[in-house]
Amino acid sequence: MPPQARTSTPPLDANDLHESMESRFEAVEEQFREFGQEHVLRFWDRLDTPGREGLLAQAERLGAGLGRWTEAWRSSHERAAGTPAGIEPLEGAIALPSRGEAPGADRKSAREAGEELLRTGRVAILVVAGGQATRLGFDAPKGAFPLGPVSDRSLFELQAQKLRGLARRYGRSLPWYVMTSAATEAPTRALFEANDWWGLEPEAVHLFSQEMVPAFDANGHAVLETMGRIFESPDGHGGVIPALARSGALSQMEARGIDTVFYYQVDNPLVRMADPVFLGFHRDRGAEVSCKVVRKRDPMAKWGVVARVAGRPGVVEYTELGDAERHARDDSGELIYWAGNIAIHVFDTAFLRRMADNADRFLPYHLSPKKVPTVDDSGIPLAPAGPNAEKLERFVFDALPEAERVCVVEADAALEFSPVKNAEGDESPQTARRDLMAVYRSWLDAAGLGEAVEGQQVEIDHSAVDGPEEALAMGARQLEEARDWLHCATEERE
Ligand code: UTP
Repeated sequence: MPPQARTSTPPLDANDLHESMESRFEAVEEQFREFGQEHVLRFWDRLDTPGREGLLAQAERLGAGLGRWTEAWRSSHERAAGTPAGIEPLEGAIALPSRGEAPGADRKSAREAGEELLRTGRVAILVVAGGQATRLGFDAPKGAFPLGPVSDRSLFELQAQKLRGLARRYGRSLPWYVMTSAATEAPTRALFEANDWWGLEPEAVHLFSQEMVPAFDANGHAVLETMGRIFESPDGHGGVIPALARSGALSQMEARGIDTVFYYQVDNPLVRMADPVFLGFHRDRGAEVSCKVVRKRDPMAKWGVVARVAGRPGVVEYTELGDAERHARDDSGELIYWAGNIAIHVFDTAFLRRMADNADRFLPYHLSPKKVPTVDDSGIPLAPAGPNAEKLERFVFDALPEAERVCVVEADAALEFSPVKNAEGDESPQTARRDLMAVYRSWLDAAGLGEAVEGQQVEIDHSAVDGPEEALAMGARQLEEARDWLHCATEERE
């Protein structure tokens, strides 16, 4: 190529810079005033040049969504709280085989259909990992949390092992789409790189980021985190749908002939990754969205339930379920609203596209009261004692009522659901490790190794053995033969 004549713009002098900044400021101020949010600029005169540059860049980026978010805050306040009208129990869920509602033959054909999808490259795996792990109080992305009962392997590594197990079984790498947020993107990428993508093909792992949104005070004013920074937080797990479209991930799936997306949350170490039976039921039933649910026995368990709302399938949050519905039981003593949502779904790619094209209509923002850092009127940092702001969050299950058909499949919580939410107590690392080990023990029993590891901490490498059938098929009746995939320790972890 012939060398091209270089044209260069003369550098701006200090006066030009000042003028350009002032005119940008005026444009931003006008835009923010239009939505009653110009107060975020009130400390402008007290900011130095880098501080002004930072605030301007942020305000310019947020400007495009400001009207939408201000309006979302207002309309959320107007929406009636309480139990949604017209709630009915769910019918037609595929219950556990022990309940005899889905005969073995159905499951077998569902498994075959699911395995065919996996073998022919029609499935992508999608994990939402943009949350801030506030309850856990963990300073890094939650996926980096060391959960392995023996090896301390992280949640991400555990999931990567499962993906390697799937690649081994189905003869191809499944693409893994990992949603991060501004809060988790850089450390997540660094972690994947530092660990050589845990043996996965790097080109099969796709990191993409969700949107960040402002939070509002009781008067609907965007909260300032510092004098020169507007507070922002990730837009909820429902942000995954527009983020898939915005990042190009959805187009990439479409171009590759992927029509089935297996969705889960990063903090559930028991997730049965790309469960072929679940995938197969989704296809066999002609569903656009499928949900795994677990049977709620304690009415006070804080899970949302899959139910019918105004005739459509939907998830009713724990806080929205009235006392009467929460405690209602049928003749056999089971809770009527029993189908606890565990945030494991299958989505059709075409459905995700339809939702993404109309995200503001189908995925409303919900308000979540939170304690966020801020400043007082003199610009002095404040540490609020209680919630002082409402974050805006989208929920992925809000898309459910829009699906032409929804398939609901019951799972056994002991085998598939034990999330890491809190630092201690229920749904903590301790309970998740305990439940994970119980699953491993049941596999080892199947392999005839149960007694040999009695009283020990156990952990299994999913890339080699992923389930009781595989444990059995390994024929590893001697402990020594299992050393490649089984890790044991006599000491209990802290
Ligand atoms: P949670 O709200 O239960 O977990 O989100 P969290 O956000 O990590 O922790 P807290 O609430 O601050 O204590 C459930 C799942 O949704 C993802 C989380 O990463 C987790 O996998 N999530 C949540 C996002 O990806 N983005 C969000 O904006 C919120």
